Amino acid sequence: MNSSLYDFGMIGLGTMGCNLLLNMADNHFAVIGFDINRSKAEEFEASANPDTVVKGVFELSSMVQQLKKPRKMMMLVPAGKPVDDVINNLLPLLEKDDIVIDGGNSHFTDTLKRIQFLQEKGIHFMGIGISGGEMGARIGPSIMPGGDQPGWNQVKPILEAVSAKVNGEPCVAYMGKWAAGHYVKMVHNGIEYGIMQLISEVYDILKRGVGLTNEELHDTFKNWNEGDMQSFLLEITADIFTHKDAETGKGMVDIILDKAGSKGTGKWTSQNAMDLATPIPTIDMAVAMRDISVYKDERMTAAELYGRNSSQMIRDKEKFVSQLHDALYFATIICYAQGFALLHKGSGDLDMNIPLPDVVRIWRGGCIIRSALLDNFYSVYKKDPELSNMLLNKKIARLLKSKEKKLRMVIKQATALRIPMAGFTSALAYFDAYCSKQLPTNLIQAQRDFFGAHMYQRIDKEGMFHNEWQPLPEHANEEEPEQKP
Ligand code: 6PG
Repeated sequence: MNSSLYDFGMIGLGTMGCNLLLNMADNHFAVIGFDINRSKAEEFEASANPDTVVKGVFELSSMVQQLKKPRKMMMLVPAGKPVDDVINNLLPLLEKDDIVIDGGNSHFTDTLKRIQFLQEKGIHFMGIGISGGEMGARIGPSIMPGGDQPGWNQVKPILEAVSAKVNGEPCVAYMGKWAAGHYVKMVHNGIEYGIMQLISEVYDILKRGVGLTNEELHDTFKNWNEGDMQSFLLEITADIFTHKDAETGKGMVDIILDKAGSKGTGKWTSQNAMDLATPIPTIDMAVAMRDISVYKDERMTAAELYGRNSSQMIRDKEKFVSQLHDALYFATIICYAQGFALLHKGSGDLDMNIPLPDVVRIWRGGCIIRSALLDNFYSVYKKDPELSNMLLNKKIARLLKSKEKKLRMVIKQATALRIPMAGFTSALAYFDAYCSKQLPTNLIQAQRDFFGAHMYQRIDKEGMFHNEWQPLPEHANEEEPEQKP
């Protein structure tokens, strides 16, 4: 066998790794995949289309040796220690100028450390976000590369070929310096958490408050997905309601336990937003609601204790469904706006230089949060790439103003029925606070100064001030008299 035959190597032939590599093969690249599990390597090779150049191996050195130089390889392994293990195993096999990509959901700060570590050894290490799940990897994901420019130039033709396309344009672009690829993917996932939470709240109120059946839920989401909110998440939601459990004949969704797991990217987004003092309450709330869902036993007890089950129903179904549509439209825009605001802040504060218009552009296809709404956002950011918050744009303001009233009506109904709509409520609170000329934070400043002398600013002159809010108790500063034996 020719000793340098392959254009691209993959480490880890799980579903994502396997599918992405087969996608590359379909796009006429010669590919080689490694998995420690021999049967996975064999299955991978067997699943390739005829006339593609595909090889599966179960020795890492064999994969590395058969790659064209500079070698281009990606690992798709779980985040954390497995990534470091792969790097350590690879190091003795690599040469200067080789390109190593982490295509998983690694924390961007880990990626930053790895970039610096491998840079010293002459290796181009890149953190790349890949979105679209198993199917996306096979037929065209959205790809978010960041960091090393020479590395990016080398892998660009391959990634462009395998990515999703919108109007013929590939859904892959350089996302900025350092760990920008993984940072952008993290925020993508934060937005994903937020939108999933909003859709789940819609489901809850349509089921418990309106009494829709699974068939009606399917029809509603399908109908919405055919309109101005069309999105991948609405599409799969509509589909979910058509599935039946083979064992019981019940709707699949009805036999699934209401406890949501997570791998951490939503939490990381919230943690980073707190670090950068950038409010993203709809995403925070989505993380919190997944967490609260896990306390099933306590929820069962509390439901009994507080008698939470309301038997009231919403009467005018059609009117409410239409209000709910507009409420979801509004809250979804707010969720994206929060994510974009964080990207804007992170871009500057973390020295990544993230091109917001390109982020929005490549999210229009292939990724989990793709939606018709992104076309609107793209036109906004194309005109104003440095926009700090999308809510400041006149076009977005027009869209939000047309739906605002409906959101308030929906939240009122939900509150009366005791159905939690925490994502929607947080979106509205964010909007109301962001659009308030005056917030009650003057009082918070007064309180801080009262008990802690933390100082405050005044509305009428520059500087920091302190007020003597209360006289200190008498003798408070006097020294204790010496005790006589
Ligand atoms: C994607 C997804 C993908 C994965 C999430 C799930 O863009 O393709 O976001 O990366 O499904 O990591 O995250 P949770 O397990 O935390 O929900």
